[in-house]
Amino acid sequence: MVRKVRSHPGVAAPVLAWSPQPGPQTAFVNCPVFDVCYGGARGGGKTDACLGEFVLHQARHGRAAKGLFVRRRQVDLASTLERARQVFGAAGARFLEQKSSFRFPSGAVIWFRYLERDSDAENYQGHDYTRVYVEELTQFPTPGPVDKLRAALRSAAGVPCGIRASCNPGGPGHGWVKARYIDPGPWRIVAEHYASPFDGAEVELGRVFIPARLTDNALLMASDPLYVAKLQQSGSAELVRAWLEGDWNIVEGAFFDNWSARNVVRPFAVPPGWTRFRSLDWGSAPPFSVGWWAICPDPTPVQGQGGAPMSIPRGALVRYREWYGSSGKPNEGLKLAAEAVAEGILARETGEEIAYAVADPAIFASDGGPSIAERMFRAGVPWRRADNARVARGGAMGGWDQMRARISGDEAGPQLVVFSTCRDFLRTTPVLQHDPARPEDVDTESEDHAADEARYACMSRPMSAAWRRTRRPPPPRAAWTPSPGTRRWSGMGGGARIGCEAGAAARRLAFRCSAG
Ligand SMILES: Nc1ncnc2c1ncn2[C@@H]1O[C@H](COP(=O)(O)OP(=O)(O)OP(=O)(O)O)[C@@H](O)[C@H]1O
Ligand SMILES: [Mg+2]
Repeated sequence: MVRKVRSHPGVAAPVLAWSPQPGPQTAFVNCPVFDVCYGGARGGGKTDACLGEFVLHQARHGRAAKGLFVRRRQVDLASTLERARQVFGAAGARFLEQKSSFRFPSGAVIWFRYLERDSDAENYQGHDYTRVYVEELTQFPTPGPVDKLRAALRSAAGVPCGIRASCNPGGPGHGWVKARYIDPGPWRIVAEHYASPFDGAEVELGRVFIPARLTDNALLMASDPLYVAKLQQSGSAELVRAWLEGDWNIVEGAFFDNWSARNVVRPFAVPPGWTRFRSLDWGSAPPFSVGWWAICPDPTPVQGQGGAPMSIPRGALVRYREWYGSSGKPNEGLKLAAEAVAEGILARETGEEIAYAVADPAIFASDGGPSIAERMFRAGVPWRRADNARVARGGAMGGWDQMRARISGDEAGPQLVVFSTCRDFLRTTPVLQHDPARPEDVDTESEDHAADEARYACMSRPMSAAWRRTRRPPPPRAAWTPSPGTRRWSGMGGGARIGCEAGAAARRLAFRCSAG
């Protein structure tokens, strides 16, 4: 596929040996939106699309085009650099090994870097880029470092700047990436509005998610017909579904790999006779999380999330309400005073009898003045110190084991269920990852506040090891069956959309932005 592209004035027209494939790859390289996330199936052509997009970008803007291509780890950059040498080399670019950068005949430059620590992003303060590419976005546990790079997107030459990210489901950042890009729905432009503090002028920055499917990479499908089979061999049914179909609803390698739909129920009126208690993970700059729990005294028929009848077994903990103190941005708290949190708790549980309450032991620490616990006590919300044993010690089950055992339950059903309205627990807990250095613990870089608070709840009513020994495990989950062409994306309703029409002959994408 060889074609010519328009060159920068005064620069000989380069021959471009790379062109996008019809479909999402073409949509990606032509997308005018500021923030574009291209994600989903393995081998969908995401890395090639990012590299190709810069070739087109520099062909349009010449020396004013400046790119920064980042990954989380240095070692991961090697294969991308290898491919970049082919794609950029065909456009006449020279690789400057010392600087890990490419210079194009047009004068445009792109640098390849890694952001291993969050603070690495600070090194880019004061830089100017017209394009920032983030590969494997889900490898970033929080959006912090990636978001800092946005401040470096500026062009005195008036080049339209943009951030382009690619990713697969899974990884420590799965949760925030899914919430920010995938949940609003594919092809849908989400606009964020900002007002200038200087003159009040309003501007809008858009973001959009473009789903990647393996079947859109016809070149790979043709050149390696065994690739699908190799993906099918590569892991569990969940992983295959995530990598083959780009399914974001399951997470291979999740800490709670036993979490399933049977742990989520439709809200019901908790009978007055059930014992209720609450748990707290304190946070001010990061979010705090309060969970309200009821203990099921006898097997109780309820409806699962999809409406199917199910039964909650005796002794199960039911999370019937939560209050997640977050600003709405991932892992950012409300910075509320202890008294305000106490007031909010009392307002939410008016008329309920709360038998006891357990909290993060850190709130009992006093640093000169009264502790958070003392201040909340004075405001009418007393707490008991929670057992904070995260992992097993001295033969006793740790908090995560307790929680995992409750999530599994037995044939009668799970011992921990959550109302489908507990959005922040459901957004953050099922996707938690293992700590790479201590696999028995949760990766504390991820958003773990609701899980910590649920762990305190579980530790307040520990299940004995004997219970686990005598119970029959739940039946295994159904194996995955391929569903060719299945697209699971939802949420297409409302808002502006990008329509993607990939004309095979012209290999160009027509964007149409329409309301509704
Ligand atoms: N437009 C293209 N022209 C030529 N080859 C392409 C094109 N798009 C993708 N390919 C090739 O298809 C293969 C897979 O593409 P790529 O590596 O970009 O996929 P990916 O979505 O980044 O995969 P992963 O999810 O594993 O990171 C690579 O060998 C790549 O070079
Ligand atoms: Mg890739």
